[in-house]
Amino acid sequence: MISYKELGLVNTKEMFEKAMKGKYAIPAYNFNNLEQLQAIIQACVETKSPVILQVSKGARDYANINLLRNMARGAGEYARELGCDIPIVLHLDHGDSFETCKECIDNGFSSVMIDGSHLSYEENVALTRKVVEYAHAHGVTVEGELGVLAGIEDAVSHAVSHYTKPEEVVDFVSRTGVDSLAISIGTSHGANKFKPEDCTRDANGTLVPPPLRFDILEEIEEKLPNFPIVLHGSSSVPQEYVAMIMQYGGKLKDSIGIPEEQLRKAAASAVCKINIDSDGRLAMTGTIRKILSENPGEFDPRKYLGPARDELKKMYMHKNKNVLGSAGQA
Ligand code: G3H
Ligand code: 13P
Ligand code: ZN
Repeated sequence: MISYKELGLVNTKEMFEKAMKGKYAIPAYNFNNLEQLQAIIQACVETKSPVILQVSKGARDYANINLLRNMARGAGEYARELGCDIPIVLHLDHGDSFETCKECIDNGFSSVMIDGSHLSYEENVALTRKVVEYAHAHGVTVEGELGVLAGIEDAVSHAVSHYTKPEEVVDFVSRTGVDSLAISIGTSHGANKFKPEDCTRDANGTLVPPPLRFDILEEIEEKLPNFPIVLHGSSSVPQEYVAMIMQYGGKLKDSIGIPEEQLRKAAASAVCKINIDSDGRLAMTGTIRKILSENPGEFDPRKYLGPARDELKKMYMHKNKNVLGSAGQA
């Protein structure tokens, strides 16, 4: 059993209390490799932002849980070396079973998500409660989920979404004891969040997706005052990266994300954690495609992974400063 405290990590409790009071959201960035982690830490140190490092089941399969844990430990030392001791959470993204959550808690994670959103309501309550009991006995915080996001989730794939029902949230939170709740108000995973035919066009001809369901969020806030809410599927799908990928041989179709103003508005509400993965994938892939295409003789991975990491860092700094409002809050 390895406690997250030995690794210099924190759970989400104090982070969310401050985010709620300060009307900003903590960035929850997924990582799978060294360059993503370097970019996250450099960006969060330079902007003085707390951060949640997210590890999906796919990331564990790809990178190995022991390596990821030690990377998170190293991230704290690296941040201090860079000059700012930012609070760092190591979080399991979309935990699919009690066993997965337990394995992560036993391996130094300071926060876990149990995603029972694909189960019946009563099954979701029972599974989430079981995870909370184990997690809280070890000082680990737990995120539950009510409502279903469309798109591809790690262990669970959902073709269609359904919004969180505000009438269920008080019962769910009180019976499970979760520390935060992921809700469904119109976001979805991946780079294709909306169909073009469901969007309108602004004066410049840019596609504008339908707004998030802030009415549902407000109802949830009224029922659960000062309770931390989580937004998954919150990539904005920056069109400059989509264009870069297409220009240098990639094929992406109908890539539409959540407009930044909507995320800024959500961050000022009870939303305390905003999950972003796909935007990082787009920034890295666009940069790598460009460099390899312009330098066909290049075969040193540092020559394309390094610039991809720098682009990623720039993007995370922008999000912390201008979208989530977490800059300066560490
Ligand atoms: O919510 C899903 C995350 O974007 C993680 O994706 O399972 O491909 O690592 P992944
Ligand atoms: P995006 O696919 O919008 O980046 O969402 C990531 C996410 O929700 C991870 O849990
Ligand atoms: Zn998610």
